[in-house]
Amino acid sequence: MATTNLHVGSARSRVDGPAKVTGAAKYAGEFTAPDLAHGYVVSSAITKGRITAIDAEAALAVPGVIKVFTHENRPRTAWLDYNYRDQVAPPGSPFRPLHSDAVVYGGQPIALVVAESFELARHGASLLKVTYAEEAPNTDLEKNRDAAYVPPKKRSGIKPPPDPRGDAEGALGSAPIRIEQEYKQAIEHHNPMEPHASTVVWEGDGKLTIHDKIQGVNNTQGYVCSVFGLKPDDVRVITPYVGGGFGSGLRPQYQLFLAVAAALDLKRSVRVVLTRDQMFTFGYRPETIQTVSLGADADGRLQALMHDAIAGTSTFEDYQEAVVNWSGLLYHCPNVKLGYKLAKIDTYTPSDMRAPGAVTGIFALEVAMDELAAATGVDPLELRLRNYAERDEGENKEFTSKALRACYEEGAARFGWSRRSAEPRSMREGRELIGYGLATGVWEAMMMKSSASARLTPDGRVEIACSTADLGTGTYTILTQIAADALGVPMESVTTRLSDTALPEAPLAGGSWTAASSGSAVELACRSVAEQAFRLARQMDGSPLANADFAHVTFADGEIRLASDPSRKVALVEAMRAGGAEALEATETAKPSLLTNLRYAAYTHSAVFAEVRVDEDLGVVRVARIVSAVAAGKILNLKTARSQILGGVVMGIGAALEEESMLDHTLGRIMNHNLGEYHVPVNADIHDIDVLFVDEHDDKASPIGVKGLGEIGIVGAAAAVANAVYHATGKRLRELPITIDKIL
Ligand code: MOS
Repeated sequence: MATTNLHVGSARSRVDGPAKVTGAAKYAGEFTAPDLAHGYVVSSAITKGRITAIDAEAALAVPGVIKVFTHENRPRTAWLDYNYRDQVAPPGSPFRPLHSDAVVYGGQPIALVVAESFELARHGASLLKVTYAEEAPNTDLEKNRDAAYVPPKKRSGIKPPPDPRGDAEGALGSAPIRIEQEYKQAIEHHNPMEPHASTVVWEGDGKLTIHDKIQGVNNTQGYVCSVFGLKPDDVRVITPYVGGGFGSGLRPQYQLFLAVAAALDLKRSVRVVLTRDQMFTFGYRPETIQTVSLGADADGRLQALMHDAIAGTSTFEDYQEAVVNWSGLLYHCPNVKLGYKLAKIDTYTPSDMRAPGAVTGIFALEVAMDELAAATGVDPLELRLRNYAERDEGENKEFTSKALRACYEEGAARFGWSRRSAEPRSMREGRELIGYGLATGVWEAMMMKSSASARLTPDGRVEIACSTADLGTGTYTILTQIAADALGVPMESVTTRLSDTALPEAPLAGGSWTAASSGSAVELACRSVAEQAFRLARQMDGSPLANADFAHVTFADGEIRLASDPSRKVALVEAMRAGGAEALEATETAKPSLLTNLRYAAYTHSAVFAEVRVDEDLGVVRVARIVSAVAAGKILNLKTARSQILGGVVMGIGAALEEESMLDHTLGRIMNHNLGEYHVPVNADIHDIDVLFVDEHDDKASPIGVKGLGEIGIVGAAAAVANAVYHATGKRLRELPITIDKIL
């Protein structure tokens, strides 16, 4: 069977767009149920210590307040079987809300007030009198550097840094040019538009239907069954729409536990929605301190590279990400040594945030490379071409494909990189200093095992289903495109259903692997349905396809046609009618190839070019232009793909100039826990962003040639901006975000 490419590869608007803009799309906190009760979370006022008393009398005296849950009366069924590890849980002991009187981080949930309305619950929460025995918190990563430790490799799911190659210390010592610097990156919070929420519908008889803000419904189901001792058949999780996640919805969060505990206890439906402030009381991108040492010859050819990172984690889990590994594979270098450590502080456990680890590590590496360019007088683009890696030297593997050279070349041409004058402070317009900077981006192209089903009915309609999520990325749309092409029907005839534990199991939506994984599963399922339809067509009396072979037909315009003679054809619906089929259906599972993974390394790459304008007197930085040139294998949908890169670049600009969760180390609390004081880019901060996809053919990374796009857009963006700021001002800044005070 030959697949047409009518839809795949072109620009298509989101199939879920109309539902979203008309308000028809329902999010986790918008589902309702008869007799729905509302829970409001009370957050700890201290960071570390014990709760000595909770006086709920005044709250309970309010008519309409139903119950106040605390560690003293939490339902006893909880935690009986707390061995569940979600798909991304790091080693350690996951946080248990209301487990005891201990407070281990600022903003920790210590009570849930349940009432007949949200307002009553909130009012009740304000009346709670809590007393504490407070201890001094330890939240300063800098002060904990000496206590940093190599994290356990077991069950982290994160590749540890590869073994050293060559003799990095020796080669560094004898290198003619040396760069040795320290780089820092602040804590960042995800801040998706939709806050975390769980609506738990009590179906009677201990059965629950849960609408949870999550990037993978199976994760929620597994957590709830394990923690509350329920059977999967009794817990259905449905969350068709997710209002952004960026990784904050990968792990089940405490509002889920609280809502389920309350629903089971009250035998009643309960909804718990977190406030924007409370969105700063769980996962985040950790603060990280890095040192990068580069040794090179006078022409900028790398002889030695050392990269070490120390990242913060909680006292109860060893959260890890790949921060330094990228430095082992991005450039050709014979002597490399990488190290990664954690230090425990009194915060919640960090969590994956868009391109976790890569955003952090590539910032340090790519600024260091810019410093090397300046030290050797080699143009930053030329420097990267001189050190181009033809294979993954970190793991000693061939790449499945790598069109990074094309990213550099096409990106530079589009940007006008050749107009850059080498000297810092040499380009200006009026009061504005102009700077050009560039950085490389890299992210792993992963594929996970995924199942999906396809169902064709005699009315010519197709239904596609799997349990993965569309967190705003375009998954509904690309799966619809793949199905439409595979079965030769218009996109309008395809309905895609996601995010329901009753559907074939797919991995959570993360890691940029959804398109490769669930896209491949959908194609397999459609292929299987196509084959069934073809068999029916061949069996028809006097079939024009009687002697045809499945390999030699195409599916287009609702017809099965012989590729060599399209006039020999059968309509899909005719074949089904003739065969008396009520529906043709198939569920298939796509798996990554272990052999390919052993032999090859699969990565997406990008080259990011930034032009900044810096007001010399005020220190205000404006990112006037970004060109992001991306190599990510086959592009399924030019429109949603471009949107992914745009969003990533905007987040990168945020990381570069604005985003910073500020810990007060005396209180141990994040002080700017709202969107007024935690700054994310707004329209006025964003100017020209030009996205281009270079040709990259990849037949190994995934069966459908896709590498994934959710994360590559952010990687390198902050370094490109930082390097442009250096070029504009002559000031080298090694700490993110680059705020005005650091520039002046
Ligand atoms: Mo992503 S940080 O895997 O949602």
